[in-house]
Amino acid sequence: MENILVTGGAGFIGGNFVQYMAANYPKYHIYNLDLLTYAGDLTKHQAIENNDNYSFVHIDIADRQAIDALFEKIDFTYIVHFAAESHVDRSIAEPEIFIRTNVLGTQVLLEAAKRANIKKFVHVSTDEVYGELEFDPTTFFTEETPLQPSSPYSASKASSDLLVRAYYETYGLPINITRCSNNYGPYHFPEKLIPLTISRLLNDQKVPVYGDGKNVRDWLHVQDHCSAIDLVMHSGEIGEVYNIGGHNEQKNLEVVKTIIRTLGKSEDLIEFVEDRLGHDKRYAIDPTKIERLGWRPVYDFDTGIAQTVEWFLENKAWWEQIISGEYQQYFDRQYAQK
Ligand SMILES: NC(=O)c1ccc[n+]([C@@H]2O[C@H](COP(=O)([O-])OP(=O)(O)OC[C@H]3O[C@@H](n4cnc5c(N)ncnc54)[C@H](O)[C@@H]3O)[C@@H](O)[C@H]2O)c1
Repeated sequence: MENILVTGGAGFIGGNFVQYMAANYPKYHIYNLDLLTYAGDLTKHQAIENNDNYSFVHIDIADRQAIDALFEKIDFTYIVHFAAESHVDRSIAEPEIFIRTNVLGTQVLLEAAKRANIKKFVHVSTDEVYGELEFDPTTFFTEETPLQPSSPYSASKASSDLLVRAYYETYGLPINITRCSNNYGPYHFPEKLIPLTISRLLNDQKVPVYGDGKNVRDWLHVQDHCSAIDLVMHSGEIGEVYNIGGHNEQKNLEVVKTIIRTLGKSEDLIEFVEDRLGHDKRYAIDPTKIERLGWRPVYDFDTGIAQTVEWFLENKAWWEQIISGEYQQYFDRQYAQK
C-alpha cells in the first residue's frame, strides 16, 4: 500500500481532499497531518477515522524534529501540502505566524521530502500570489503572471512557492505547484465570505460586506479543486505550475445576493463595512493549462451555491460547534488515550 501525506487535512480544503481520496483511492494509506489550530477540526472525519488506511498525526509542520521523526518511520509516496495559515484578515492583524507556518513550515517539509523517495510533492497555493487584476474582463492570471502579492498572507504563500520551485531546480525534487481561485463548499470555516453569509443569514443576523462590494473573485467548488489536485498529483508534468479556476467571476455583493435569494431572505440584512486594508480588486484565472491535462469543473455557481446552502442547513450542528469553539475539545476527547 502506498502512503500519502496530506498536511492540513483537518482544514477546509485539505479535509475535503482527505475524504475525496478515501472515497476514490482505497489503495492509499492517508496520513492526515495537522496541528489543529483554530481552523482545524477533526469531527468532519468521524466516518473514516477508524479505517485501517487512515491515520491522524498531530504535528506542527514547522517542528523539524517531529517532521524528521515521522519521515524516518514512514515512506511516503506522495505529499500533498495544504497546511497553512489561510485567512487574509488574520495576516493583516498578525503576520508573524504566517511566516512561521507558511514559509518555514514548507521549507521543513521540503527538506524532509528531499531525503525521502517520493514520487511527487504537490504544493497547494493560491491565485492571490499574483496580486490583483484591474476590472478588465479580458485579463486573467496565467502561470507566467509575475508574483506580486498584496497581503502578508499572499506574500507568505508566494515565498513558499519560490522555495518549492528552488527545491525542484536545485535538488531535482519532483514537485508541482497549484494556484487555485477562491473555494467554497461543505466544511468551509464560517469566518470566510460564503459560509459567514450563510450562517449569519440562517440566524437572521446582518451580513457584513467590505467597501462597496464590487471586488471580484473567481469562485470554484471545493470538489472541483480536489479533482484538479488529484489530476496534477497523478499526471502533472514534474516541475510545472498549474492554475485552477472555473471561469466564474462574481462581485462579492452578487455572491451575497445570490445566497440571500437562495435562502429567501431580505437584502436589508446587508451591511456595508469599512474596506479591508490593501483589498485586491479582482482575481481571475486562465485555466487553459490544467484543462489541457483533461480537467473540467463539474459545478456551475448556482448549482454549487444551492448545494452548499443545503449542506449548511443539514449540518447546522457542525458550524454551530465551530462558532461556539466547542469543536476544539473533540481532539482531547477522541485522541486522549491514543
Ligand atoms: N480557501 C481558499 O479559497 C483557497 C484557495 C486557494 C488556495 N488555498 C490554499 O489551500 C490550503 C488550504 O486552505 P484552507 O482554506 O483549507 O485553509 P484552512 O485554514 O481551512 O486549513 C488549514 C489547516 O492547516 C492546519 N495548520 C495550520 N498551521 C499548521 C501547522 N503549523 N502545522 C500543521 N498544520 C497546520 C490548520 O489546523 C488547518 O486544519 C492553504 O494552503 C491555502 O493557501 C485556499
